[in-house]
Amino acid sequence: MDTIIVKADLSNEWYVPEVWEKNMSHAGRVIREGGLVAFPTETVYGLGGNALDKRAAEKIYRAKGRPSDNPLIVHISRISQAENIAVNISHDARRLMEEFWPGPLTIILDKADIVPKETTGGLDTVALRMPNHPVALKLIEEAGVPVAAPSANLSGKPSPTTAGHVAEDMMGRINMIVDGGAVAIGIESTIIDMTGAVPTILRPGFVTVEMLKKVIGAVEVDKAVDAKSIEEIGGDYRPKAPGMKYRHYAPKAELIMFEGSVENVAAAINRKLKEAEKNGKKAAVICTDETESLYKNGCIKSIGTRAEEETIAYNLYHLLREFDDMEVDYIYGETFYGTGLGQAVMNRLIKAAGYRLEQV
Ligand code: TXA
Ligand code: MG
Repeated sequence: MDTIIVKADLSNEWYVPEVWEKNMSHAGRVIREGGLVAFPTETVYGLGGNALDKRAAEKIYRAKGRPSDNPLIVHISRISQAENIAVNISHDARRLMEEFWPGPLTIILDKADIVPKETTGGLDTVALRMPNHPVALKLIEEAGVPVAAPSANLSGKPSPTTAGHVAEDMMGRINMIVDGGAVAIGIESTIIDMTGAVPTILRPGFVTVEMLKKVIGAVEVDKAVDAKSIEEIGGDYRPKAPGMKYRHYAPKAELIMFEGSVENVAAAINRKLKEAEKNGKKAAVICTDETESLYKNGCIKSIGTRAEEETIAYNLYHLLREFDDMEVDYIYGETFYGTGLGQAVMNRLIKAAGYRLEQV
């Protein structure tokens, strides 16, 4: 299959609005006719298809190489569309939509009959989100249907934050890539399940527990979110977001995280770097602006500053893909805990490391 790439970066001052309209209407038509289009959102790039067409859902799973029991997020462009896709929408769920949409919050609700089970991975619930990006909103409007979109990476690879990342994974596998430039946030949306007795966060993201509690009161965090080992989750525990059970965001190199005081972590990682050098292996370090100077040898990369966790989230996937390109054998990572985005970043990194976390 030939994959067309169209430019749609409105922040480029030379960009012509008429060309944008034409490109977006083309992209919308591709989705309406059953094809697949990758597009930017404020979080990461999505791989979109008609959410109401089970064949489109099957095509998405095939293009990503994703197990079909891992449900897709349905994207809409107006809050009112939620009524067609979900049922039993509670007062609190509506308040979340009004407060956080368009934005990086995905809400799990009971699904309406028109949503095929292929889209929801066989579940009776549906994940709904209204993204805050002009290209995404325009695409959904032009398609005239809700758009099912997982992150536009091959299953198991880091989520794409630029159209270039999407092209690396998806050329020849989908109909079109809409290039809207680099995304703003760089980490996937927060997922909250509103179908149980207490609202529960299934995946942390830019919208934090505190922000959610301010609007709807009690909010729980699923135990798969902060788990530092598989044992902590429990062998027979089934994470409510099926995606959380798969090894995710995995770089090609062996990634090991280190937890302890800044000094202990730096000492342990420096020991590992020396050992790798001795064995003729290529090793890299994920650190922060504050700690960069503590490391010697190897490829040292700051992921951002601890003072602004947004920078760490923004660089995460980009950095993991860079390490893939450099073909390093080992990546040693510092841990950054925080209540907000720090938690979201650690959740991704610990999973990327396959739960390899060393206490030092
Ligand atoms: O920021 C985002 O959410 C991006 C952009 C493209 O919108 N999308 C995204 O989709 O991250 P994906 O497919 O990579 O991750 C969706 C996650 C999976 O872990 C999946 O298991 C979970 O959402 N999920 C989807 N529907 C669900 C449902 N009905 N119940 C529980 N979890 C669900
Ligand atoms: Mg994903």
